[in-house]
Amino acid sequence: MKKIAQLLLSGLILYSCSNNQYESNKNKRKEMETSDITDVHSYAHFDKAYTSHLYLELNADFDKKVLSGVAAHTIQNNNATEIVFDIKDLNINKIITNDEGKEVEFTIGEEDLIKGRPLTVNITPNTTRVEIHYSTNPSSEAVQWLSPQQTADKTDPFLFTQGEAILTRSWIPIQDSPGNKITYSAKITVPDSLMAVMSAKTTKNVNGTFSFEMKQPIPCYLIALAIGKLEYKSLGKRSGVYAEPSMMEACYNEFEDLEEMISAAEGLYGKYAWEQYDVIVLPPSFPFGGMENPRLTFATPTIIAGDKSLTSLIAHELAHSWSGNLATNATWDDFWLNEGFTVYFEGRIIEELYGKDYADMLAVLSYQGLLDELEELPKEDTRLKLDLEGRSPDDGMSAIAYDKGCFMLRMIEENVGREKFDSFLNAYFDNFKFKNLTTEEFLVYINKELPEVQKLNLNEWIYKPGLPANCPKIESDKFDKVEANLVNKTYLDNKASTKDWTTHEWLHFIGAIDTSWSLNDFEEADVLFNFTTSGNSEIAAAWYEQSIKAGYKTVYPELEAFLVRVGRRKFLTPLYRALLKAGDKATALSIYSKARPNYHFVSTNTMDKLLEFNN
Ligand code: BES
Ligand code: ZN
Repeated sequence: MKKIAQLLLSGLILYSCSNNQYESNKNKRKEMETSDITDVHSYAHFDKAYTSHLYLELNADFDKKVLSGVAAHTIQNNNATEIVFDIKDLNINKIITNDEGKEVEFTIGEEDLIKGRPLTVNITPNTTRVEIHYSTNPSSEAVQWLSPQQTADKTDPFLFTQGEAILTRSWIPIQDSPGNKITYSAKITVPDSLMAVMSAKTTKNVNGTFSFEMKQPIPCYLIALAIGKLEYKSLGKRSGVYAEPSMMEACYNEFEDLEEMISAAEGLYGKYAWEQYDVIVLPPSFPFGGMENPRLTFATPTIIAGDKSLTSLIAHELAHSWSGNLATNATWDDFWLNEGFTVYFEGRIIEELYGKDYADMLAVLSYQGLLDELEELPKEDTRLKLDLEGRSPDDGMSAIAYDKGCFMLRMIEENVGREKFDSFLNAYFDNFKFKNLTTEEFLVYINKELPEVQKLNLNEWIYKPGLPANCPKIESDKFDKVEANLVNKTYLDNKASTKDWTTHEWLHFIGAIDTSWSLNDFEEADVLFNFTTSGNSEIAAAWYEQSIKAGYKTVYPELEAFLVRVGRRKFLTPLYRALLKAGDKATALSIYSKARPNYHFVSTNTMDKLLEFNN
């Protein structure tokens, strides 16, 4: 109780202090250190010294699969004699500070499997710049080096990084906590004919050396780099798409509504703060659907469905430009502040652009996903506020942060009214832009700004497991019709009864298939609708999962091809898990041994555990 009171108090102080949009965040971590809030996933001591700007100079060697160069940190120094950085699987060659421009001593601590190692550098109270000369290893977890064969065009190699949650330390020696926001600039040298892009503005390209600048402070999990044979095409006055040449036309068409999405988002929650919004479509091994790197969302090619039906994912990543990238979770225990707000915001963008029916379908699917996960997860992992000490932040990446978080916000909206809730959110994003907040600071803020919430049991939502009784119920007429069609098998006699169905109606149809279905039912549906060979990755994956459960092995060749090509973890986990549950571990392992070389660390890490695979 005392701890909570202290947190609330520090929240109050914080939220009433300086409003200067860039200055105010700088001491966030320092403040956290002196209060009860700590980021258990970083070794850094922000009360002593912390980075305010990072300058990166790196060369990408595709033969050796190594990034090497310098990370030069401009630091704020509180009379410190040492500064601590996080590193994982990096080679530190030498460190030079500005004091006398000489090499200084440093020590590297014991390895923790999750956090990596502390890099402690000797400095003086006068040190303002620490230059770390280093290189990555081919195994450095954030970075995936792809052979030409693993790209769409198959002509050139490719590289991308994935920083969130705590992988940035495996490609940059850095104080890797979301609670410390920094600006950065970079100079990246790449082989001839390849292009480098980052989550920053490209300022120059001279002979294969690309310069970048991010002038707004960001948490370092948002520093991102991709290198490949890329083309760019503008989609409007401040948006565009990067893709490999053979993918460009499809990507360009898929993202036609992007400008409109940005305008809709701005209309809801205020001006887009990052000038430009581009999307890069990566090779299929990208382990996520999307990653909200500022100015440049990283996206999986599995959303290119040909009919724009999976672009709500882009609405999600765009929404992070406010929730997450402006107002950022202070620690990974507060992850729902990033994702819950974003799922809510995503739904609102979709409703603006495509109407309430569409948004309701997404909400019902998200509710079903939430119920499923509530059954799977240990009870203590179903609170919004997490306690991830000693665990990987990845463990917090469940439907709880995303969907339980979103449903709490929907519940507030329903109770206080949309208009009031929208003005609250506008003020929230404005107040916390370029800052961080903890769950407790959120509670202080909302209780003050929207006192109506005091009777809504927010504490139960946040600190208790499960789903509170006041969770909104969402209905979808469209889905009701789909269910009736499925139950009555109307589709069998009257295929036309499904002719206007959208992807989400099909997903609901497939999701509602139950154990009453015989193999013959699977076959009939497959003949009618060609699910097994669907070009829509969501439909295919949902169908494969049901087929595995039912023993409909006709899908296995396509399933294998899918699992070997696609590295998106959201698809891999349920499919491999279904194979295990169906008692078909041999098939799972045989596919995995072919597929694993194509996956990024994020996915192999999860699948190795799931499949008990020792490499
Ligand atoms: N920020 C997340 C991805 C992430 C979370 C990476 C935690 C590493 C650690 C991103 O915005 C996200 O949520 N992606 C989802 C998209 C979706 C919910 C529409 C995904 O990749 O599936
Ligand atoms: Zn997200």
